[in-house]
Amino acid sequence: MSTNVMVIGSGGREHAIAWRISKCSNLGKLYCLPGSGGTADIAENIPAGVCDFDLIAQHVTDKNIDLVVVGPEVPLVAGITDFLNERFPGLSVVGPTAKGAQLEGSKDFAKEFMMRHNIPTAAYRTFTKETLDDAYAFLETLRPPYVLKADGLAAGKGVVIPDNLEDARKELAEMFSGKFGDASARVVIEEYLSGIEVSVFVLTDGKDYLILPEAKDYKRIGVGDKGLNTGGMGAVSPVPFADSEFMAKVEQRIIKPTVSGLAEDGIDYRGFIFIGLMNCGGDPYVIEYNVRMGDPETEAVMTRIDSDLLSHLKAAAQGELASETMVINPQAAVTVVMVSGGYPEKYNSGYPIAGIENVRDAQVFHSGTKKSGDATLSAGGRVLAVTANAEDIVAAREKALGAVGCISFTDSYFRNDIANDVIALL
Ligand code: AMP
Ligand code: GLY
Repeated sequence: MSTNVMVIGSGGREHAIAWRISKCSNLGKLYCLPGSGGTADIAENIPAGVCDFDLIAQHVTDKNIDLVVVGPEVPLVAGITDFLNERFPGLSVVGPTAKGAQLEGSKDFAKEFMMRHNIPTAAYRTFTKETLDDAYAFLETLRPPYVLKADGLAAGKGVVIPDNLEDARKELAEMFSGKFGDASARVVIEEYLSGIEVSVFVLTDGKDYLILPEAKDYKRIGVGDKGLNTGGMGAVSPVPFADSEFMAKVEQRIIKPTVSGLAEDGIDYRGFIFIGLMNCGGDPYVIEYNVRMGDPETEAVMTRIDSDLLSHLKAAAQGELASETMVINPQAAVTVVMVSGGYPEKYNSGYPIAGIENVRDAQVFHSGTKKSGDATLSAGGRVLAVTANAEDIVAAREKALGAVGCISFTDSYFRNDIANDVIALL
C-alpha cells in the first residue's frame, strides 16, 4: 500500500528529508508544508504555518495523509504530535509529544533527565532571578569560560559562553532581565567541556532505535569558525574521530540509557533524537538534546542513507522499528551553505538565483528560497545547502565547492573552509 506523506517545515533539513523520501518505493503523494522553492520540484507545497494546527489537520484530511514528519522543534514543543494523535488515531507521526519535546524545550528538564538516568554530561545548576546570589556564588566555583544557557527555546541563540567572571555575571543579569524573553526566566549554568563536537542522530519508536550517520556542523559565520553564531554554515559526515570504538561508547553510555530512560519516565517517544556530544579525550558527554534532526547536518546525512527511509519512518511512528535495519553508504558527504550577504545580521532577500541547473553530481537543498514564475529567489538568511558525496572527505569538499561555484546570487557568501578541521585530523 502506498503512503501519502506530509513533511512539515521549510528549511534545507526538510528539503533533504523530502528528497530522500521521494526516492522510496512505497511513496504515494509527497507534500511539504510550507516547503520551499526546492521542495516544489519534488513535492506539492502546501502554504501554511508550521504551528497552524487546525489548518494542518484540514490538509491531513483533504490530502489523505498517512504519515507526517515534523521537521522543526517549535511545533513539537507546542504539542503538534499530541494534537495530531488525538485528532487522527490512525495517523503515523514522526516527532515526539510535547512531553518528550521537553528534552529540547527545557535545558533544565534535559539535565534532570540525564542525572536521573546516569548519562554523562557537564555538571550544572539551574537558577532563577530569585536565586541570583546563589548563581553568582556557583559561578565562583567554576573555572572560565562560563556556560550560561537559557532554559527555554531561543531560536538556537540561548547559549552564551563568556570567558571571564565579570562578563558572566553581567550576562546572567541580562538573561534574567528578559534578554531571551521567557526562555531565560530560568538559566542553566554548567561546567565548560573542551573537546570536539559531533552530532549523533537516532530514530526511535520508544523501544528500539536506528543510528543514522553522524555529522559535524559549522556554526560560526566566518572562516576558522570565527564571528557570530548562525543556523549553520556547513556540515561533514562521517566524522573521523567518531570511529567504532567511540560510537560504541556513545551507544552504551548515551543512546541506550536515553531511549530506556524515556520509556521509564513514561514518555512514548517516536521520532528523531539529535544528541550534541563533546568528545572529551575519547569519552562522549552530552552537550544538548534536540528532538529533531539537525540543520545543516541532515543535508549531509540523508545522502548517506541507502536503505528505505520511508519504511524506517513508518516503523518508528508505528512502534515497529525492531524489524528495520539502516544501511549507510561509506561515501563522505560535505555540505556548504550559501547565505545572503550580511547574515546573520541584516540582509536582503528576493534575489534571483542563477546556475542551479548547471550543478552536476551534487545535491542543492534549499534552505530559504521561493519560486516566482520560472525563477528561484533567495528568501532567507541561509539560502542553499549544497551537498556533494565522494569516496573521501577531501574529494567531497572539493566537489561541493565546485558546485557552489556554479551558483550565483547578489551578495552571496559561503565559508570555503568547511571540513578542513576534520581533514586535518585524518
Ligand atoms: P546549544 O545551543 O545547546 O547547542 O549550545 C550551543 C553551543 O555552545 C554548543 O554547540 C557548544 O559549542 C557550546 N556549548 C554548550 N554547552 C557547552 C559546554 N558545557 N561546554 C562547552 N561548550 C558548550
Ligand atoms: N546544526 C545544529 C542544529 O540544528 O541545532
